[in-house]
Amino acid sequence: MHFVFSPPAEAAAGLLALPWDQPLELWSDDRLTEIPQRGISRHVVRFIAQEREVFALKEIPERLARREYSILRRLGQLGIPAVDVLGVVVERPDELDAMLVTRFLDFSSSFRALFANPRRANMADRLLDAQVELLVRLHLAGVMWGDCSLSNTLFRFDAGAMAAYLVDAETAEVHPQLSTGLREYDVDIAHEKVAAELLDLQAGELLADDVDPIEVADDLVERYRRLWHELTDEEVMPRDQQRYRIGERIRRLHDLGFDVDEVELIEDPGGGSRLRLTTRVAEPGRHRRELLALTGLDVWENQARRLLADIASFRGWMEQVEQRRVPQAVAASRWLTEVYRPVTEAIPTHLRNRLDEAEIFHEILEHRWFLSEAAGRDVGTMAAARDYFARVLPEVPEDLVTPGVALVGADRDADSGMAVPGDE
Ligand SMILES: Nc1ncnc2c1ncn2[C@@H]1O[C@H](COP(=O)(O)OP(=O)(O)O)[C@@H](O)[C@H]1O
Ligand SMILES: [Mg+2]
Repeated sequence: MHFVFSPPAEAAAGLLALPWDQPLELWSDDRLTEIPQRGISRHVVRFIAQEREVFALKEIPERLARREYSILRRLGQLGIPAVDVLGVVVERPDELDAMLVTRFLDFSSSFRALFANPRRANMADRLLDAQVELLVRLHLAGVMWGDCSLSNTLFRFDAGAMAAYLVDAETAEVHPQLSTGLREYDVDIAHEKVAAELLDLQAGELLADDVDPIEVADDLVERYRRLWHELTDEEVMPRDQQRYRIGERIRRLHDLGFDVDEVELIEDPGGGSRLRLTTRVAEPGRHRRELLALTGLDVWENQARRLLADIASFRGWMEQVEQRRVPQAVAASRWLTEVYRPVTEAIPTHLRNRLDEAEIFHEILEHRWFLSEAAGRDVGTMAAARDYFARVLPEVPEDLVTPGVALVGADRDADSGMAVPGDE
C-alpha cells in the first residue's frame, strides 16, 4: 500500500490506521459519519470524522485518483474555490481501487438542500451566480471542468451571497489557455447536467413550483456569456476618456465580485487617438488574506469584505471619540475584542450549527440596519444580536448547511469558557 499526502500532513497520521485493505463500502468504523443531502455520485464516497476534522473518502481507479489529486492541488494554488485535497492511497491489496481523501467543506450546502429548503427568495438566483462565477474563474485560469454540474459543486453562504466550490475534478484538464471551443464545450455540458439535475428534483417533487428546470439551465448559459464578456472584452475608447472609462470598468468588475489585477492599454493601430483597454482579474481572496493578517479570523471572501467594512466604520467612530488618527491594526484589535467576540460568543449553543459564525455576524449587521431603520435611530450591535438570536436564527432550517461534523454536539471553546487562542 502506498500513501501520498500533501503537507501539512499531521491529519493524515490518524488516517493511516483505517481499514484500507477492505472495500470502502464494507467499512464499519465508528468514525464514519453520514452526511444528509449530499450530491449524487458514481463512486462510493464516505465521510470520516477524526478529532476536529471530517474527511471525504472516494474510491476510484488509481489513474483517476492521481489525476484528481494533482488537479485539486493545482486549483488550490490558483486560488480557485475547490475542496482541499489531503492525499491518495494507492496499491491497496486485492486490486482494490485507489482512494482520494479530501477535507470536508464545513458549512457547505448541496443544491438539493438549497432548492428543497429555500430560506429566502431568489435562492436559485444566487446559486446560479455562484455556479457561473466558479465556471468563469476556472476558464480564466485555463481549466476545463468537463463535468460542471450542481452535484459536483458545494455551496456556501458568503455574506448573504453564495460561493461555489468545485468538489469533483475527475474530468478536469488544465491548459495554458482555453480555446473558445473548449469553453463552449464545457458550457454545453453544464447546461445539460444542470437541466437534468433539476428535472430530477422536479420529478421527486423537491423543486419549488415556480422553478423551471430548462429555463434555469438556459439562464446559466446566458449569465456565463454575460460575465465572460464583461471580464474579457476589449474596450476601444478615445484617449481623452481613458481615466473615466478605466474607473468605470474597474467598478463594474468590482460590483461583480472581481478584483482587477492588471489593466492593459494599447494604442489602437488604426490611429493615435484611440486606446484599447483590457483587464485581468485577480485571484479571489484578497480581503480574506487582509482580514486574516489583521485579526486572525479566517472567513470567506465576501464575509471578509463585510467585516473589513465594519472595522473601517469602527475605526471612524474611534477617531471621532479620541480626536486623533487611529492605525488600522489598533482599530482591528479593539473591534475584535469589543465588537466581534462579544457578539459571536453570545450565539446560543443550540443554534451555533445553523450557519457559520462569520455568516451569523454578517446577518446581525444586516438585522441591525433593519431595526435601526424601523426605530429611526441606531439600535446598536448587541441589541440587534439579541433580537436576531430570538427571532431570526431559530428560523434557519437545521439542515440548510452541513456543519463540520466533528463540531456537532461537541462543546466549542467559546461555550466552555475556555480561552480562545489569539483572543487577547
Ligand atoms: N470534501 C468534501 N466535502 C463535502 N462534501 C463532499 C466532499 N467530497 C465529496 N462530497 C460529497 O460527495 C458527493 C460525491 O463526490 P464526487 O467527488 O462528486 O464523487 P463522484 O466522482 O462519484 O461523482 C459530492 O456531490 C458531495 O456532495
Ligand atoms: Mg461527482
